[in-house]
Formats: sequence, structure tokens, C-alpha cells
Amino acid sequence: MPLLRARAIFRSISPSYISRAFPTLAKPSNSLPVYHRLSSYSIHHFSSLSNLHQQQNMDSITELCMIPGPVEVEASVLKAMSTKATSHMDPRFIASLSELIKNLKVVFGSTSAQPFVIAGSGTLGWDQVAANILEQGDKALVLSNGYFGDGFGDCLKAYGADVTVLNAKIGDSFKLDQVEAELKSKNYKIVTVSHVDTSSGVVADVEGVCNIVKRVSPDTRVVVDSVCAAAAERLYMDKWGVDVVIAASQKALGCPPGVSIVIASQRVIDALNQRTSSIPAYYVSWKRWLPVMQSYEAKKGAYFATPCVQTMMALDVSVRHIVEQGMEEVFSKHEKVSAQFTEAIKRVGLRPVPLDDSLRSNAMSAVWLPEGISYPDLAAKMFSHGIVISGGIFKGYATQYFRIGHMGISATNQSLHNVDATVQALFGSLLELGYKHTSPSQTKSIDKNNLRVRIISNDSESQTAISGLGRRVGQLDVGQTENAEYEGTKPDQSPHPTATRLVLFSSGSKGTETSPPRYAGGSPPEDVSYLK
Ligand SMILES: Cc1ncc(COP(=O)(O)O)c(C=O)c1O
Repeated sequence: MPLLRARAIFRSISPSYISRAFPTLAKPSNSLPVYHRLSSYSIHHFSSLSNLHQQQNMDSITELCMIPGPVEVEASVLKAMSTKATSHMDPRFIASLSELIKNLKVVFGSTSAQPFVIAGSGTLGWDQVAANILEQGDKALVLSNGYFGDGFGDCLKAYGADVTVLNAKIGDSFKLDQVEAELKSKNYKIVTVSHVDTSSGVVADVEGVCNIVKRVSPDTRVVVDSVCAAAAERLYMDKWGVDVVIAASQKALGCPPGVSIVIASQRVIDALNQRTSSIPAYYVSWKRWLPVMQSYEAKKGAYFATPCVQTMMALDVSVRHIVEQGMEEVFSKHEKVSAQFTEAIKRVGLRPVPLDDSLRSNAMSAVWLPEGISYPDLAAKMFSHGIVISGGIFKGYATQYFRIGHMGISATNQSLHNVDATVQALFGSLLELGYKHTSPSQTKSIDKNNLRVRIISNDSESQTAISGLGRRVGQLDVGQTENAEYEGTKPDQSPHPTATRLVLFSSGSKGTETSPPRYAGGSPPEDVSYLK
């Protein structure tokens, strides 16, 4: 089992190894963007580095990658990446890309929109929008819930757009009444929305934005950055009136990084065809890519720039799996797993960064850490348990929260127990770091050496949904303590208890259920703006 193997390997490795796993941590510099500067904290923190990275080969990467992308992928997807050299004119590749282009319309809920599938990352989608839709001085309204929303705005500015940003405090979302007022005040060519901002885990109300646009500014194009949401959060291009969706291969679409995906409505394509000003870019010019995409969809090869053949074939496999399951099924699975994860962390007193459940993404979670525990310490512990997570991004708070992805196969294939294993490692790591969880009805702190777990369930539907989680949490405490206890409310329950509620209590107590725990850490920030 990969996780056990990973544990066996990494238990013996110094926690400082983690900084070697992230090349972006290697060169702290004041000239780097904030994200990288903040991340560089980790390398200072783990300063006693060994030369382990020089001895590693790719087989040594056995831990579960539970960051909010790149995410774990199916073996069949990896296999599709391992073909020998394949021509981009090979009929098998042509058939594969044709299928992918068709299936992407299904994923995003459109019968007529035009997909652009080109080698690159999610960021390339920002450039595609800026270069192909906007002209010098066009007005763009950027709805930003964090780092990635702001980044999109910066990209638009780089192409000469007149950008207005509406943003929110950490954990909150822009307000729809502000959006309406802003759209009424100026003639905006586009409004951009980060569907899930990966810096905070906040999901935006895309449908709400579309409804306002339809009502007060119908000529404005709605552009959704769905890089961290595609195939995890509901989105229906045709039904809602979305003009452009940006995505990338390495998140809930279930493939390694390397493919930039943009899908544009017919009215956007019509405007492109009528455009008289030149497109201020070469590689991302849709005038060059449009005939190529149309040709591949019609099962004929074409060339403008070499596609990443293997990664696109792999993406075809993963997207096919998604479409075969049915989009509603895939969205529901993400919803369920996200709810289970949130329930688990709240039960041990942790608080999600999103201010309330309606703002919480189904694709990933950002979670405040308890006071006294900082992200580098948690990341090192998690790594020693074979799990890789991400830290915070906001300046001043980078070490105070962590982020994990529960998307792609980690949500759709629960038999993998990826999220269960992450919860298990998280609880274990927090205990090892001395986390003491208290609840209002229980002022006595929990002794980690004398901990019991009671798992209570009386909802048959959620029993099924959460059974993996309950069992894994149980396994954690069997491993962690001498004194684990499991309970179910039904006599015929399987030996592996299922849980809708997990209650931690010290063995000295009577074992009655505690009231919901309060947040054990410091107060989340009240008044913080996003920093560049
Ligand atoms: C919401 C969002 N937009 C854009 C990007 C940029 O994508 P990439 O890193 O693939 O360039 C990311 C990356 O995580 C993201 O989460």
C-alpha cells in the first residue's frame, strides 16, 4: 500500500527533506512575487538540509500529493503519458484530441462553445483572455477573492486593460450588490471571477454574477477562472450565460500539469472573427489556434505549435472517466467529500478559512492552524506521515493556515482513502505537535497519550458516505494511543464503525458526547486586504 510504504520511508527522513520537495523554495529573494517570498520561509525554517535530494530518483516520490493541484491521478492516466514518441499527426492522437475537445464541452455544460486545448498551465488562460478578447484600454472588472483573482487582474493590466478590482477580506467573497453597482457605473467589456480562489478556498457565486450581468450589462462577457474548480464545482456555461471558462489539467480534471484549457462561447468567437485590431500576442492568438482546434475536432490533424501529445492523451483518459460518471455524480462526490473533511476538522476544533459554509469550496480546504502550531512544522509532520500539503499564501498569514486539495480521484474514488489518510495524518501530526483541543463543556485538556475516540452515527445515509473516514480515524488512534475506543449506535454495525460525528475526549471523562468544539487557535484576521 503506497501510504504505508511512504510512511516507512519518510519516518526515517529528517523533516527538513520537505523543503527539497519544493523547488520554488530553493531561492528566497526579495524580488520574487509574494507567494514565493512567503514560501521561502519554509526553507529557512528547515535550514539543516541534507543532500538527500541529490540521491533521489523519481521512484522515491511515494507520498500522497494532497495539495490543491497537482493532484493524484489514476494509473490509467499515467499510463497514457508513457507512450513512446508519438506524432501529433498520428491518427490515434488525433482521435484522442478530438474526443477530448468534445468531452470538454460536456464538462462545462455547453453544446456550442469552442475549446482551446494548448500546451501550458492555467496562467496561460489569463493571457489568452487578455490577448484575444480585450483591446487596448478596454475596461475589465475583476472580482477577486484572493491571490489568483488579483493575479488575473495583473495579467489583464499587462496587456493594457483598464482594470478595476473588487476584493474581499480573507475568507470572504466580493459582494453581489457591489458588482451590480460597478457594472452599472461603467461599460465593462469583461467581468472576471475566480470560481475557487486557491489562496483561501472560497467559492464564488458565479451564477449570481451571471444573473446580474444579464440584467444590468448584457454586453459584458463573463470570464470564469475555474482552474481550481473545473469538474469539482457546478458550472453550466449555456444555462448560466458564462462566456469563457479557464481551466488546467492538473486539478479536478485529474491529469498531471501541462495542458491549458479555455472554452469560449460562440459570441466571443464571433467577436474574434470580426476583430480588426491586431492580437498583441503570438503563441496564444486564437486566430492561429481556432482552425487547429476545429480541425482536430473534425478528426483531422493540423499544426500551429507542437501539442504536448502524451499529456493531452492522458487528459483525454481522465476527462473521459469524468464524463462517463456523469457531471452531476462527479459534482456530488466532491460536495460530499468536502463536507466530510470539514466536519472532521471542525470536530477537533479547527476552523476553515472561508467565513461560512456557503463560501467553502468543494475542491479544496484552507484551514486556520491552532495557536502555537505553524505551517512549516505541520508540513514536516505530515510529510513524515507520507502526505504533502500546502501552506498559506496571504502575507502575514502564510504560516498560520494550511491548504489541502480533496478533488479529482481523491473525491471521486473513495476506495483510495486519500482524504481519509490525510485526515488521519493531520490528527496524528497535530497531536505530535502538542495540540490540545478543548471544548466549552470540557475545559480539561486532552492528554494525547490517553486519548479515546467515540464515533457516533445515527444517519444511515451519511454512515455510508463517511464510513471510510470513520475507520481511518479509528486506525489513527489505534496507532497513536493505547486507549482507543469506538462506538456505533447500531448493534449490527460492522466492526469498522461509521461516523457522522467524531468526538475526542480524555479517558478520564465519562465519554459522553461533547458539545461542538470551539476554535482552539487564535482569532482569524478581521481586517486584512490582499497584498501584492
Ligand atoms: C484559481 C487559479 N487560477 C490560476 C492558477 C494558475 O494556474 P497554473 O499554476 O496552472 O498556471 C491557479 C493555480 O493554482 C489557480 O488556482
